Amino acid sequence: MFRRMILSLVFFLGIVPSMARESRGHISVVLLGATGDLAKKYLWQGLFQLYLDEVSNGHTFTFHGAATADLEKGRRLMYGHLKNLACPLDVPPDRCAMLKDQFLRLTEYRQLKTEEDYASLNREIRTVLDQEDLEEVGRIFYFSVPPFAYGEIARHINSSCRPPTGAWLRVVLEKPFGQDLQSAQQLAEELKTFFKEEEVYRVDHYLGKQTVAHILPFRDQNRKHLDPIWNRHHVERVEIVLKETVDVKNRTSFYEEYGVIRDVLQNHLTEVLMLLTMELPANVSNSEDVLRHKLQTFASLQGLERSSIVLGQYEAYNSHVREELQKGQDYFSRTPTFAGVLVHLDNLRWEGVPFILTSGKVLDERVGYVRVLFKNRAYCTQHETTWDAKESQCKPKQLIFYIGHGELNSPAILVSRNLFKPTMPQGTWKELLDRPQLRLFGHSISDYYAYVPVADLDAYAVLISHIYHGKKESFVTTENLLAAWGFWNRLLTNWVNEVPRVYPGGQENGHLLDFEIIGGEVSFVMKETLEVMDAKNGQTPDQYKTIQSRFRQSRLITAWSEELIAHLAADIEKVAISTVSRSGSFHVALSGGSSPLALFKQLVLHHYGFPWRHTHLWLVDERCVPLDDPESNFGNLYEHLIRHVRVPYFNVHPMPVHLNRRLCVEEDKGPELYANEIGALVANASFDLVLLGLGADGHTASLFPHSSVGLEGNQEVIFTESPVKPHQRMTFALPFINKARRVWVLVMGKGKHDIVTVVSRAGNEPKKWPISGVNPTSGQIAWYVDYEALLG
Ligand SMILES: *[C@@H]1O[C@H](CO)[C@@H](O)[C@H](O)[C@H]1NC(C)=O
Ligand SMILES: *[C@@H]1O[C@H](CO)[C@@H](O)[C@H](O)[C@H]1NC(C)=O
Ligand SMILES: *[C@@H]1O[C@H](CO)[C@@H](O)[C@H](O)[C@H]1NC(C)=O
Ligand SMILES: *[C@@H]1O[C@H](CO)[C@@H](O)[C@H](O)[C@H]1NC(C)=O
Repeated sequence: MFRRMILSLVFFLGIVPSMARESRGHISVVLLGATGDLAKKYLWQGLFQLYLDEVSNGHTFTFHGAATADLEKGRRLMYGHLKNLACPLDVPPDRCAMLKDQFLRLTEYRQLKTEEDYASLNREIRTVLDQEDLEEVGRIFYFSVPPFAYGEIARHINSSCRPPTGAWLRVVLEKPFGQDLQSAQQLAEELKTFFKEEEVYRVDHYLGKQTVAHILPFRDQNRKHLDPIWNRHHVERVEIVLKETVDVKNRTSFYEEYGVIRDVLQNHLTEVLMLLTMELPANVSNSEDVLRHKLQTFASLQGLERSSIVLGQYEAYNSHVREELQKGQDYFSRTPTFAGVLVHLDNLRWEGVPFILTSGKVLDERVGYVRVLFKNRAYCTQHETTWDAKESQCKPKQLIFYIGHGELNSPAILVSRNLFKPTMPQGTWKELLDRPQLRLFGHSISDYYAYVPVADLDAYAVLISHIYHGKKESFVTTENLLAAWGFWNRLLTNWVNEVPRVYPGGQENGHLLDFEIIGGEVSFVMKETLEVMDAKNGQTPDQYKTIQSRFRQSRLITAWSEELIAHLAADIEKVAISTVSRSGSFHVALSGGSSPLALFKQLVLHHYGFPWRHTHLWLVDERCVPLDDPESNFGNLYEHLIRHVRVPYFNVHPMPVHLNRRLCVEEDKGPELYANEIGALVANASFDLVLLGLGADGHTASLFPHSSVGLEGNQEVIFTESPVKPHQRMTFALPFINKARRVWVLVMGKGKHDIVTVVSRAGNEPKKWPISGVNPTSGQIAWYVDYEALLG
């Protein structure tokens, strides 16, 4: 019945048989997975659109829906899907009905399982074409099947279903293409044994979205305006965003294996990043050039670090996983459903420009966009209301590729009017004029030149047309795929399973997932998740507030670590300001160790009013290593604090552990030198503030238990021996510490809980626990202890 169809259709369409012989040739399309979900939702419609677009160009088609189901069941399911085909809006209903009918008559279902099934499909195609006297142009095999089935299908196609010489073969693959670099390589190797690279079309459906598909043409058609500004001198930052509101219910068995990075960032967002950042070839319609330039850009991606990402997981995710994967109540998945990633490129054009890639499930809105924010150097003296409306140089300058959904609910391209008036293709894009009330990214739509597509085209329809026309630049080549996995692999191997921040979902997320970029690192803006999660239940998170009370009869300040650090930094600033205003300078001596690093960071980032110009930085103790050694306390202080603040270099006083090209030798008299320097600069050799830490063994500064060195006497600075490497140290002696006007002790982390408990009860026993000897003679002491150290 199927056999005599094509010719009769040629009659039906009013084309005489002789013209059919001069037909531009025949294309067979085989849709594997014809009864599946993707086929139902998009692929059949895309194939119908292809038929509508191309049949008038003189090509003939047959469509073979295939699956493993038997004939009866397969047909029923497939024709069920085909009922819903729709014509473009401008096609009248009766003509539409006719076109659908034609399409259905060119379409058959067949079961494809065995080698013989494929051989029989091949015979049938050949026989029909011979009978109809049609030239075979090519065959498309669309794999809408799970990747584990690829290998077998590929083998059958290669051995039994290749078109004859002169006709092309195109196989179309759907993601996922592997789970990481290694599995992607394996899959690629396997396919390579069956197909040539030019035969493979890997679909990333995002590349078929109208706006995404127009990024390169847009850059090309607006070269004149973009060339001078499409670079690090003019672009402030770029945001590539795909937000979703749905969860992954019913899909957790897939999602649990993938997570947001593999599902969205490794493919969709990375591809968009490439389209934005690649060097434009002279001819953007030349697939080879486009693909080559894209690969070059991959090569200039800077490697990701732990500090390049923030991860989240929506709260109900674990219960979905437990339910669907039959896990126990104690199962906690760390699969991220939200990610924010900072990407940099190492090339002349983009060096230093932050590219922010972000995506997540169960967020507040469904929207996809790219926002290119340009630097703005103008300052307008006049009041805002007098800024000459739209073209004012003082308004933000941005270029937005709006991919879909969101408030606009349509693909669009928007350019701030103070940037340039873009050139858009006639006939396919039109100006958006009918939504004057709309505001986007903080601005009225009238501040933009805004364009929307004349007709909404589905991404799959766009891509199917590109497959048919052999436009390979819209697809992911093997090299491209492996480069993308290569880029993400480090993150996936090292950090993707760190505990994600849990978020409640939807509007309730509030600012929980906002992140910021500081000094090339991303972090959530809100640091204290415990507090936030508690606040969500409408309770005041009292128990997380800073608590003040007494420890060893002295002032105790306690809180969760981040808050404690914030409190301490604020207290230091207060003291510094009042001391400077009273005496003109502030002398602070700092200890080594890891706890102060968080403090330094806090001081650098949040205390702009700190009187650094009048502050002198001293060290309480130092390891006997060169100053540029990673173990050097001064090195750390320099790296985390001094480098970032405007403290005059002559106010910085490293301990002289390295004299005469040797480390800590008695006769070089380093301790005396330091004591003299202090004596010369610090009034009464009494520091305004000495900041100490506490070791788990009770040591403080570099004064260690079971040694009397430095516990008594007149020497201010001395050498000591540490039980751990590097053994030799230089340190303030205990009596000298006690001379300070203020001594503050910072203690953080569970590991300190035991010693904190011991010290809270101990008397003055510095030989056992040097910290217990810290007792300023006329100054005051305060304890900054976090909850973990205090309460365990
Ligand atoms: C692909 O098909 C060709 C021709 O039938 C055959 O020679 C070749 O061995 C096949 N490749 C593989 C990997 O099976
Ligand atoms: C999930 O699957 C169940 C059972 O198969 C079905 O009833 C439900 O509609 C599905 N939910 C979604 C959101 O697809
Ligand atoms: C650009 O490349 C396409 C595809 O290779 C080609 O058809 C077209 O003629 C080229 N255009 C120019 C201006 O060279
Ligand atoms: C230095 O010490 C002396 C005597 O103890 C005292 O009178 C004086 O005020 C101190 N100076 C400062 C700046 O603290």
